[in-house]
Amino acid sequence: MNQPGTQHALAAELERIGRSIDAALERLLPQPLGLQARVTEAMRYAVLAGGKRLRPFLLMQSAGLFGVAPERVLRGAAAIECVHTYSLVHDDLPCMDDDDLRRGRPTTHKAFDEATAVLAGDALLTIAFEILADAETHPSGAVRARLVSELAKASGSNGMIGGQMMDIDAPSHRFGVDEVVLLQRLKTGALFEFCCVAGPILAEADSEHEARLREYARDFGLLFQITDDLLDVLSTPEKTGKAVGKDAQHGKVTLVSLLGIEGARRRAEDLAARAADTVAPYGPPAKWLQMLPPHLLRRES
Ligand code: IPE
Ligand code: IPE
Ligand code: MG
Ligand code: MG
Ligand code: MG
Repeated sequence: MNQPGTQHALAAELERIGRSIDAALERLLPQPLGLQARVTEAMRYAVLAGGKRLRPFLLMQSAGLFGVAPERVLRGAAAIECVHTYSLVHDDLPCMDDDDLRRGRPTTHKAFDEATAVLAGDALLTIAFEILADAETHPSGAVRARLVSELAKASGSNGMIGGQMMDIDAPSHRFGVDEVVLLQRLKTGALFEFCCVAGPILAEADSEHEARLREYARDFGLLFQITDDLLDVLSTPEKTGKAVGKDAQHGKVTLVSLLGIEGARRRAEDLAARAADTVAPYGPPAKWLQMLPPHLLRRES
């Protein structure tokens, strides 16, 4: 599972799916035309900057477990990437984390201006729902409504936004491990949960599959944020494409600050093993879902 050959195969698969997501995003995002072109330019600038596309990858893999054809999943995958990118554009604003570098280039508010970045983020959030609600996403209106509802919940005050609020408030509280786990499950985990349940929803599979994949996503999300927080301490802007050392500078509480580097690493290893076990019953179709958690432990960007 962890040999260099299989790691290489996973990297190639991530790249292959990343390219198909990029093409879908290129097609679905509005062209910079008309008197409002500045906002569409900023949306395209933020999204088409080459992120890792992990959320679309997870969504495609969760649908793949049920045999949904990849071309039937691309719109949902593009939608979640739009919400994720919006969260980054706003996360980088001076009133939030105040970052100048994202995905290896100036943040959207630096390349444009703050008002444009706020609007581009808002428009990326709303276009995600436009994409999901369109009949091309799925022939069943009930399936589309479920996707819209799940994405709204994952993005809102009981999901990503709730986590971002806790993250901003954290320096004035004395959050312990339980509170930080909740914070990270919301700010990062909720969007991953959407990706993982979107597969069974698109496939109209039994609800037990949603529960299993949600469990996987919860561990995956926490694991992902721990590795992000480790990179903030241990990596470089050249590798991550964003500033490092910011969490300590801003007094952010993370599992790295609470458990130390080794403690956080151990926690991440446990989560990776558990996530891989959760999807093992799906057998070979879950191959990439099983390989991704241990891959995150070694990620450099
Ligand atoms: C960064 O997410 C924000 C977090 C939730 C930690 P990614 O590391 O997935 O960012 P991109 O999409 O690859 O740029
Ligand atoms: C951001 O977490 C999570 C969201 C954008 C929802 P971070 O603030 O740690 O992400 P980076 O490190 O700026 O990518
Ligand atoms: Mg932040
Ligand atoms: Mg940030
Ligand atoms: Mg971070």
